[in-house]
Amino acid sequence: MTFFWSSWITILSIMCWASILGILLMVLKYKPEVEDDGTTGHEYDGIREYDKALPKWWLVIFFGSIIWGVAYWVFFPGIFPSKWEGITTVEVDGKTLPWTSHNELNSELESNNKVFTDNFEKNILAKADASGATKTLATLSEMQATMRRSEAPPADLQSQIDEKIAELSPYVEKLSENPNALKVGSRLFLQNCAVCHGSNAKGATGYPNLTDNDWLYGGEASNILTTLHNGRVGGMAAWRDKLGEDGIRAVSEYVLSLSGNQPGYELDKAKVAQGEAIFKEPTNCVLCHGPDGKGMLSAGAPNLTDNIWLYGGDRETIRETLRYGRAGVMPEWETKLGNERIMLLAAYVYSLSDRTAQPAAMPKQVASTEKTVN
Ligand code: HEC
Ligand code: HEC
Repeated sequence: MTFFWSSWITILSIMCWASILGILLMVLKYKPEVEDDGTTGHEYDGIREYDKALPKWWLVIFFGSIIWGVAYWVFFPGIFPSKWEGITTVEVDGKTLPWTSHNELNSELESNNKVFTDNFEKNILAKADASGATKTLATLSEMQATMRRSEAPPADLQSQIDEKIAELSPYVEKLSENPNALKVGSRLFLQNCAVCHGSNAKGATGYPNLTDNDWLYGGEASNILTTLHNGRVGGMAAWRDKLGEDGIRAVSEYVLSLSGNQPGYELDKAKVAQGEAIFKEPTNCVLCHGPDGKGMLSAGAPNLTDNIWLYGGDRETIRETLRYGRAGVMPEWETKLGNERIMLLAAYVYSLSDRTAQPAAMPKQVASTEKTVN
């Protein structure tokens, strides 16, 4: 807090306190002249005013509040808040901190989380036959606390954390078969994820559908956990400078040919062949989308041979993607929701995906397109 605001609060508090005390003392000291009948002589509308002492209970409350006001300054930062923190403390993340509304909120969030965690262990994990996760969760949160608190955490701590997260996968699979866990998961999804992925999780332009079996980063429980814990950023560079508009048109034509079923598109075969050469240059598209264009989970690069599009599979949108690049951002949730809620969300997402569906690639159609190209 700046010196100005600190002084502002101090002056206002003291002035307010002193003027109330002053008025009270003044009233107590003031003795009006009283007439023979005990009234002060004021009369209004036939009502005459007596001089009676203030009621005791009222005075007690009033003086009590004035003393309480001083106590407040001792307990909380009210007088020179930039210098005096008050003697009240709260516990946050294992540390005793001076009271601020911010610290108090965090402390309350922590205790609410504790209630949630206990509930999660007793009512959800135990009933889904997944109590084994409790120990892993405890170790995980200890590691995360070490990571948060230490200035120079051990170099391999993050990879140990990642390993612990992966160890939760079998329990996520168990939760994904438990109706109660899914109910809580679906509520968490509506609150946190539906803004981007839609309330039915079917996604929108730029936001992937989570109910199909087509994945940017993988649909195993461990992949979904990693996505939720750390977030993801899609990295598709702009190609305008490197390829030029001519190159972009050619390679777009090749991408169209890859996805096979593009009804109504008459492909320019010369451009497809030219585009294929560009695509397959070792430092170009194959680097991430793979030699056959089927994508790569480790790069988050989508499969271009199916007909599932993140940004759109029409000619103009593909050109747009190539000209300007794309960088979809999936936020991280570890710090916002914590490990337990992430497990429930991962279980919900895992339950949504249609794992019986064929992996989305359509080799047959690609083959037939290749025939028309050659
Ligand atoms: C601000 C928008 C936003 C919110 C909120 C959001 N996501 Fe995402 N999510 C994205 C984007 C964008 C991607 C794709 C990232 C990319 O393009 O590389 C994504 C990707 C994913 C993926 C990976 C899909 C794949 O194909 O591998 C999963 C799983 C996922 N989100 C689940 C969730 C869950 C669960 C929540 C709620 C806790 C959530 N998302 C909240 C924007 C969001
Ligand atoms: C560095 C890795 C990388 C390279 C190289 C790369 N891409 Fe991508 N590409 C990606 C990623 C990652 C995405 C997803 C972007 C996102 O999630 O926001 C993507 C998305 C796309 C899309 C959008 C797909 C959809 O579903 O809407 C197209 C089309 C595409 N790339 C084509 C190409 C072509 C053609 C080339 C070569 C000129 C190329 N990419 C080179 C990583 C790459």
